[in-house]
This record gives sequence, C-alpha cells and structure tokens, in this order.
Amino acid sequence: MLTTIGNISDHVGESVRLGAWLYNKRSSGKIQFLQLRDGTGFIQGVLVKSKVSPDIWEAASDLTQESSLYAEGTVRADERAPSGYELDITSLEVIQKAEEYPISLKEHGVEFLMDHRHLWIRSPRQRAVLRIRAEITRAIQDWLDKENFTLVDPPVLTPSSCEGTTNLFHTKYFDEDAYLTQSGQLYMEAAAMALGRVYSFGPTFRAEKSKTRRHLIEFWMIEPEMAFVDHEENLRIQENMLSHVVQHVLKECGPELKTLGRDTAPLENVKAPFPRITYDEAVELLNREGMEFQWGEDFGAPHETKIAETFDRPVFITHYPTDIKAFYMKPDPSRPEVVLCADLIAPEGYGEIIGGSQRIDDPALLEERFIQHRLDRKDYEWYMDLRKYGTVPHSGFGLGLERTVAWIAGLDHVRETIPFPRMLNRLYP
Ligand code: 4AD
Ligand code: MG
Repeated sequence: MLTTIGNISDHVGESVRLGAWLYNKRSSGKIQFLQLRDGTGFIQGVLVKSKVSPDIWEAASDLTQESSLYAEGTVRADERAPSGYELDITSLEVIQKAEEYPISLKEHGVEFLMDHRHLWIRSPRQRAVLRIRAEITRAIQDWLDKENFTLVDPPVLTPSSCEGTTNLFHTKYFDEDAYLTQSGQLYMEAAAMALGRVYSFGPTFRAEKSKTRRHLIEFWMIEPEMAFVDHEENLRIQENMLSHVVQHVLKECGPELKTLGRDTAPLENVKAPFPRITYDEAVELLNREGMEFQWGEDFGAPHETKIAETFDRPVFITHYPTDIKAFYMKPDPSRPEVVLCADLIAPEGYGEIIGGSQRIDDPALLEERFIQHRLDRKDYEWYMDLRKYGTVPHSGFGLGLERTVAWIAGLDHVRETIPFPRMLNRLYP
C-alpha cells in the first residue's frame, strides 16, 4: 500500500512506500537529497551511500527531473525541512527515467509556460492555485447545500443569448444555429419556479475580443437563483456566501496561500455585511477623485479599481442605468431608469466577481424588453411562460470562479486560475 505525502505526519517513525516524481535533487557526494512530489505534497528524501546498495545509489544518481519512481523509507520529523518531515530512503524503484524536462527550475516566459501548461501545473505554485480553486468550489457548494439550494444543471448548447448577442459562440446544431451558453441563468429561473432555491455550476463561454487579465473565453460560473427573493435579500445571500468562502479558504489553505506568498491580512476583513453604494454615488466618487465619468457609461477596470480602493472588503455597486444592463433585470419601481441589480467588486483591483439582479416578473414589461433588445421573441417563448404561469418576484446572481480564485489567491492574471485556459489567442494545449 502506498502512503501519500499529504498524510506523512501520521507515519513518523514508520517505514512507508511512496509513488512520486523527482522534482529536484542535489548531492554532497556521500548523500543525495531527492525532492519528491506525489501531487499531495513535497518531501525531501535522503539517501546515504553507505546505507543503500550500489544499485540503488546508482539509480538515484541517474534520475532526471520528473522521473517517476517508488521510494521506500522511514519517515522522520525534521523542523528544518520545509514540509516538517524527511524520508530516509532505504529502497528505490524507478518507473521511468524522464526525458529532459522542458520546464527547468529557472525562470521561463509566460507564453512558454502556457505552451507547456500540461506540465506547468505540476509546479508547486500551480498546484497551490488548483488546490485553492477546488477548495473555493467546495466551500460554495457546502454553503449552498446547507442553505437548502438544489444543484440543477442547465444546458451548454442553447438556441439564444442570455447576456447580449455581441459575444456569442456560434456553432451548428445539425441544421439549426446554436450557441455555447453565456450563462445558465434563464434556465435557472425555470428551475427556481420548480425547486425554489437552485444553483448551477458549470462552464460558460464568451467570444470576447478582450485581452485583459480578467477575461477568459471559457470560464466557470456559479449561478444561484431564488424564488420569492428580492434585490435586498439577494445581496445578503451573496455577502454571506462569499464571507464563508474566504474564511474557509483561510482556514483550509494556509500552506497553499503561503506557497503563493499571498498577504492574508486583507482577506481577514472579508466578513458580511459588505458596503453598498449606488451607481450614482460611484459616479460622484469617481468625479470627486478626478476621474471624469459620465452618468450612463459602464465602468472599466480602472474605475472599478478606484471605487474598490475606498473600501476594505468587497463592495456592491447597485442600481445601474437600465440601458447598460441585461434585458431581464427589473427596473426600480420608484426610478425605472435604473435596475435592481448589483455588481460585487473585489478589493485590491480584482474587479467585478459577481453580477446579479432581481428579475423582471411582469409579462408585459418583459415583452417590451424583447423588442427594445431586438431579441427574437420565438426563442424565448418558454422563458415568457415563466411569467404566465404563476410569476413571482425572484432574484439571482452569477459568481465568476476564476476571478474569485485570482483575488483570493492573489494572482495577477486569471490564466493561472483554470487548469487549461481558453483565451483570445490560446486553444492549446
Ligand atoms: O456579469 P455577468 O455577465 O452575469 C451573468 O452572466 C448573469 N446572467 C449571472 C446571473 O445573474 N446568473 O457574469 C457574471 C460573472 C462576472 O461577475 C465575472 O465574475 C464572470 O462572471 N465573468 C467572467 N470571468 C472570466 N472571463 C470572462 N470573460 C467573464 N465574463 C464574466
Ligand atoms: Mg457583469
């Protein structure tokens, strides 16, 4: 039976067998130090020439970076070791001596690393990011499950758009036109009418010509949708969910955050309630801070960063102009030129991580919106049905997983937050 490095602390003083790859090695002539990794962690194996057979010594000397092997030895606690433990190797079985590994331990350019993404994910930093990503997903799902949300899976191939027609990914569906989903929201609205509180978690696609550190072509979204929930309650659900996520990662991912050199102090503050400012107030704030900004425009990254700097935790910007938001958002009854929506802006310049709103529940108003937004009414027949057969106030939101990971992990680009990023100029590997 193999032991894993992640569980090595349970085996101090015992003899164990590991399956591993050689990450790095150095030698002092009589002792070889093998840095081993097995996916669950890293440990230093120590091989003493006088204590092993010449065969084993030779096999170890011959190992190249990323060679695969089984190692047997005794686990020893050692305060000086980065992981706190070392393995005194007694036996070694080489599975494969690896060819010369393209990613040496020196610095490489990002494009080179991205071309070798399938190998790059083996590195300690990339492993830490992917662990944090998984832990964020787990925390979100745990929280939603505890709050009695039901997981519902919307389709990926769709006949129509959710977030506007400008960045749809077109494909053929036999003889029909089809699009890769931009958001599962419309289907989640149907699901909320069937199950009350629901969420989806899946890939979404935007054929966006944006080449920024926040944009991917394929990204993952968590989309909760709730019947009988208004704009205010929608915000409370978001802030409670996100506080839980950040505190969970702080608790569970200490070593990973450390590997990434993440300053965790700003994350400690991320506790509900989050501040809220209206779009109007945000416009005033920008002009006061010397950034000229006209009411009715949409915020760009520098605007979002400026607004976020004013707060020590994520901030909701609410009540955007109706004209710059999606067709399904409910206008504020007291001021129909703005909608009951909010974008949640992360601190430290990470920008919008959640977009959400209360949805239009009035069938007549929704009809008007289809015309204004030049949407083909027949594609949305089923969506109109939701307003005909027992319409209710309802709200929901979409959290972009990659931007959330980038923020919590403290990365400067979303490309490292997903195992195989799809970007403007990248479909490989
Ligand atoms: O604001 P968006 O476009 O909202 C929707 O799609 C709604 N239908 C969601 C809903 O209410 N159910 O996208 C939601 C989030 C953004 O806040 C952002 O975090 C992320 O998805 N996002 C992207 N992430 C990476 N790359 C892109 N190109 C993204 N576009 C949006
Ligand atoms: Mg948005």
